[in-house]
Amino acid sequence: MKLLLLGSGGREHALAWKIAQSPKIEKLYIAPGNAGTSNAGENVAIKADDFDAIKAFVLENQVDMVVVGPEDPLVKGVYDYFKNDEALKNIPVIGPSKAGAVLEGSKEFAKGFMQRHNIPTAGYKTITADNLEEGFAFLETLEAPYVLKADGLCAGKGVLILPTLEEAKKELKEMLGGMFGNASATVVIEEFLSGIECSVFVLTDGKNYKILPEAKDYKRIGEGDKGLNTGGMGSVSPVPFATKEWMQKVEDRIIRPTVEGLAAENIDYKGFIFFGLINVKGEPMVIEYNVRMGDPETESVMLRIKSDLVELFEGVAAGNLNEKTLEIDERSAVCVMLVSGGYPEHYDKGYAISGLDTIENSIVFHAGTAMKDGQVVTNGGRVIAVSSYGANKDEALAQSFANAKKITFEKKYFRSDIGFDL
Ligand code: AMP
Ligand code: GLY
Repeated sequence: MKLLLLGSGGREHALAWKIAQSPKIEKLYIAPGNAGTSNAGENVAIKADDFDAIKAFVLENQVDMVVVGPEDPLVKGVYDYFKNDEALKNIPVIGPSKAGAVLEGSKEFAKGFMQRHNIPTAGYKTITADNLEEGFAFLETLEAPYVLKADGLCAGKGVLILPTLEEAKKELKEMLGGMFGNASATVVIEEFLSGIECSVFVLTDGKNYKILPEAKDYKRIGEGDKGLNTGGMGSVSPVPFATKEWMQKVEDRIIRPTVEGLAAENIDYKGFIFFGLINVKGEPMVIEYNVRMGDPETESVMLRIKSDLVELFEGVAAGNLNEKTLEIDERSAVCVMLVSGGYPEHYDKGYAISGLDTIENSIVFHAGTAMKDGQVVTNGGRVIAVSSYGANKDEALAQSFANAKKITFEKKYFRSDIGFDL
């Protein structure tokens, strides 16, 4: 099989690493990929949302399957682009239709969907400039802190958590006034939920599903989960509080109703669903949906999938995922992210990375790297994920931290407390 993977981050390197292990793969292409993905397959200089260029490449190279890493191409409708094209319609795309991607693309839609299907989530109200006063009144019924969410995609920046009612009202007005452009023309006000978060992933063919290993990610830049939000500084799988009993609640109250709800609403969905959950006094509730794998969760989760991922993708495409097996590695897997100093604010790119060839007993996934004159250089805020196995999370983390120290580039930073709260 010839498979094309779209995307260029650490998530895509981890997916490429796993896909390349499949005996079914004759050729793996990654568009556009990074310096690391070129070790798992062949990078192609096409942007992940340039559908016309993707079409030309797929036809010219007789690609048999397309797997979508990031949300952008999904929200823009790459699945529908293939379905509606005579020459492409029989080539499966692993990822939801545009209608399905709205679960991530619109917070308002996601909340309405959960309400329609009785899926546990925070109470909410949707506000636009036309009913601002209702927004103020709703905020007054809530207790601090206050959660405001821009309806549309804001690259992870569209959620504000405000400590006082006064600030919440002020920020609500500013969001509606264009703080995040059109993405915040509609704002979802939510009840604040207190608990610990966990990311749960499933792969679905629209009817059947497989529950992949869960993971916890660490979003803040600073130790002890302090400071600005980032794309993710590390991850741990499994998550100790995601016990068999808890996961059964997740499946019964959240996963099954979601998959059935999508089918009931005639939404074509063949791909990953990422449930951003919070454990509120032992009860799982949904914070958000994403329509792709998580990053940096994928950099731990892929290590724990023993089965052939490409065979699972074939099940997704054919609608017989129930006939496929998913075997999970009992060991722990973790990832520690090395980032550029200054990130998530200003940082510089282009620093030479050394020590990559000294790494033993960890798997190095590139996130933001590029090749420059034969040298791997930094090319993003998040640069390298160091992933490891261990009999438990502490063993795995010790391994990743030891190797994180061996990889060097100017202004390198990483959190040395990943997993501290588990
Ligand atoms: P989201 O983009 O919806 O995942 O929100 C970003 C982050 O804000 C989440 O990972 C949570 O840490 C936090 N958050 C979002 N919604 C809530 C809520 N209703 N209660 C508490 N924290 C929340
Ligand atoms: N790790 C969270 C995300 O991928 O959105």
